[in-house]
Amino acid sequence: MRRPETLAAQALGWVDEKTRAISPPIHVSSTYVRDPDNQYRSGRGYIRADNPAFDQAEALLSALEGGAATLLFGSGMAAATAAFAALQPGDHVLAPKVMYWSLRNWLANAAGKLGLNVDFVSSEKLENLRAAVHPGKTKLVWIETPANPLWTVTDIAAAAEIAHAAGARLAVDSTAATPVLTQPIALGADLVMHSATKYLNGHSDLVAGTLTTARDDEYWQRIRAVRVQLGAVLGSLEAWLLVRGMRTLYLRVRQACASAQALAERLAAHPRIEAVLYPGLVSFPGHAVAARQMKGGFGGMLSIRVRGGEAAAIATAARVELWKRATSLGGVESLVEHRASVEGAGTPAPPDLLRLSVGIEAAEDLYADLDQALAA
Ligand SMILES: Cc1ncc(COP(=O)(O)O)c(C=O)c1O
Repeated sequence: MRRPETLAAQALGWVDEKTRAISPPIHVSSTYVRDPDNQYRSGRGYIRADNPAFDQAEALLSALEGGAATLLFGSGMAAATAAFAALQPGDHVLAPKVMYWSLRNWLANAAGKLGLNVDFVSSEKLENLRAAVHPGKTKLVWIETPANPLWTVTDIAAAAEIAHAAGARLAVDSTAATPVLTQPIALGADLVMHSATKYLNGHSDLVAGTLTTARDDEYWQRIRAVRVQLGAVLGSLEAWLLVRGMRTLYLRVRQACASAQALAERLAAHPRIEAVLYPGLVSFPGHAVAARQMKGGFGGMLSIRVRGGEAAAIATAARVELWKRATSLGGVESLVEHRASVEGAGTPAPPDLLRLSVGIEAAEDLYADLDQALAA
């Protein structure tokens, strides 16, 4: 088996048999011709059910994650909510207290309408996780690691053990870790989710989501049915762009990790900064677990707490010239965001926190811009 960066660079080495093209065509057809004997021998019938434009991205991600199959969705939220919509009314699910805020809001306010019973738990504290599962009733344990926006680290292998002992599956939002750094399935997870809007695509120019399964079972087929029936499919052009983005995934993520580590270490000593939250800092509470389950880096995401509270944090963000004040993450350009302003009520983000998504610019330029913004 070739190394993952090789598989990604060549999108699994695909070459068109007819034309010898190394970049695939963009399939836009919404429907497929039925054979005269009323069969669909191509295996394709209608675009909402199946689309050849998805094949490469799904196969590549399955290979990178070590999964049995992958499904592309129209957004990360569409992928995540499909995993919950495929459960049964009455099922109990656990989700972390620190997680992507929009999914937390959906779980808190809308998942009940599907008949799901949702509890939130500090998943990084394994004793809390152990106490929160209801054997036989809990069907899905959802974790995110490192988790937005505090970069809390949950032990995937331990969480899988706890979930499985209770008869539940473990799903991991691995958006911030990417398959470059962590393969949750090898650590025991049953399902891996990505907002492919972020690192997988990497260029802040599309919205997409993915689920990868450890095995093709009845639950996976229900997830597939949710995608078909609710129609949360990706566009063909976006699927093509996603493959193009994934070809450089390893280069981009490795650069972002190296720069984020350097920035975190320098910012930790900055007089205008109260604290730096980054799994790569030895002093960070989740560092030891992160060092075990993240290989080759600790990600491109960190948060800083600015001395002087909310006003000082917002004023710092106002003064940056190179960093872009914008939400989202995982693109080649670096972004800064006052996270509490985005998340609103119920956010775990303290008011003095700025979330940083480190891109692939020169780390020295990124530090200099933050330094002038902090110092002013
Ligand atoms: C960790 C994480 N999970 C899920 C999502 C949702 O993804 P999308 O915006 O593609 O729907 C995001 C988006 O910011 C995210 O950061």
